[in-house]
Amino acid sequence: MDAAQLKQLVAQAALAHVPAGAILGVGTGSTVDCFIDALAESGIALAGTVSSSERSTARLRARGYAVLEASAVERLPLYIDGADEIDYDGYMIKGGGAALTREKIVADLAERFVCIADESKLVDVLGAYPLPVEVIPMAAAQVARCFARAYGGRAAVRAGVVTDNGNLILDVEGLRIGDPLGMETEVNQWPGVVTVGIFARHRARVCLLGTAQGVRTMRFD
Ligand code: 5RP
Repeated sequence: MDAAQLKQLVAQAALAHVPAGAILGVGTGSTVDCFIDALAESGIALAGTVSSSERSTARLRARGYAVLEASAVERLPLYIDGADEIDYDGYMIKGGGAALTREKIVADLAERFVCIADESKLVDVLGAYPLPVEVIPMAAAQVARCFARAYGGRAAVRAGVVTDNGNLILDVEGLRIGDPLGMETEVNQWPGVVTVGIFARHRARVCLLGTAQGVRTMRFD
């Protein structure tokens, strides 16, 4: 099976986790695109959705789902999203699609994060994938220097990308993230950082991993 087929597979598997009639948190990316399509085809009725990007909002609306403002919702039973990397504790790197800030906001509203990903995303230690960090534009060079000093990371502004929030993305290479909670906490304190793409405080509780043998369900509770 190729990566596209594995995405379809986990998108289908995620349907079993969707509580009919609920308001659902929806992530961003190519795997989530497959999930939105599968959801629409399944006929599962929802009270609405909260979306983590303009991209997913457009897709959800095109498939007939109501998209609510995050500020209109106090709690969500479930958030479904992909990841760029996930480790054996459910800690993730996210933000490859530049939607990390809204993704973390919606994840924070949710009781449970279910990650859908193909097996290439599973790693022992986070950091081979360049870590996305959303920054206020005037702080980009400063935050890049902080990464070099604190972690030996090499940060570059993602060319041609402005986030849904009007900010820039730094992609940081050369990291080995042995302590995801610690790094998330520290980087969050640096002036100009909007969101770091380490999802440790908002880790996945379940990962539906697409493998050549089928869907592997990993639980991290
Ligand atoms: C977007 C994300 C995505 O979840 C992540 O990039 C995975 O995307 P894909 O499903 O296309 O592999 O964090 O900001």
